[in-house]
Amino acid sequence: LQEIAAELKLALHQYPNFPSEGILFEDFLPIFRNPSLFNKLVRAFKLHLEATFPNQTIDYIVGLESRGFLFGPSLALAINAGFVPIRKKGKLPGKLYSAAFAKEYGQDFFEIQAESIPEGSNVVIVDDILATGGSAKAAGELVQKCKGKILEFSFVMELDFLKGRDKLPAPTFTLLSGQTESLKKSS
Ligand code: PRP
Ligand code: MG
Repeated sequence: LQEIAAELKLALHQYPNFPSEGILFEDFLPIFRNPSLFNKLVRAFKLHLEATFPNQTIDYIVGLESRGFLFGPSLALAINAGFVPIRKKGKLPGKLYSAAFAKEYGQDFFEIQAESIPEGSNVVIVDDILATGGSAKAAGELVQKCKGKILEFSFVMELDFLKGRDKLPAPTFTLLSGQTESLKKSS
């Protein structure tokens, strides 16, 4: 797992001062351009989940719009789980649950289809990056409204100095660690 993570980290592309001054943006899109790396990303999460939950069936991978949609469905297929999207408000039909999360300016809402996760299902929530934790916390609230059981929050990257994981109600895993130093330097 460590070796795969090291190789994936090399593929990240850094964009200083994006989306605003003083922020070092770690772009993980290059991973998806390369099928071998894309495959390794999915395999790394699969290995981690199998090692962490050897005796539990993961029923659903829940992915957050937008970047959680890039690998969530592939991971779900790889572990024989279903995929359930959490979308920004106004995009999903039917009976919904809704949860607010803080944005830089004001707030936004995440929504989930109320019947998408049967009560008691084992769920892993995935996204590309854990920053303040606002989005992931709202996603957790939605899964809890469905009465799903959150086994874990899984991210590709984490801005650990923002302490987002402290807001989350379940164990939190990050595949690629060690982002902190370069980010601190640039801000
Ligand atoms: C980014 C990122 C995470 C979230 C992390 O998404 O993809 O989803 O922010 O931030 P937080 O931990 O402070 O909530 P963004 O809303 O920028 O949009 P996108 O995924 O649609 O690109
Ligand atoms: Mg996002």
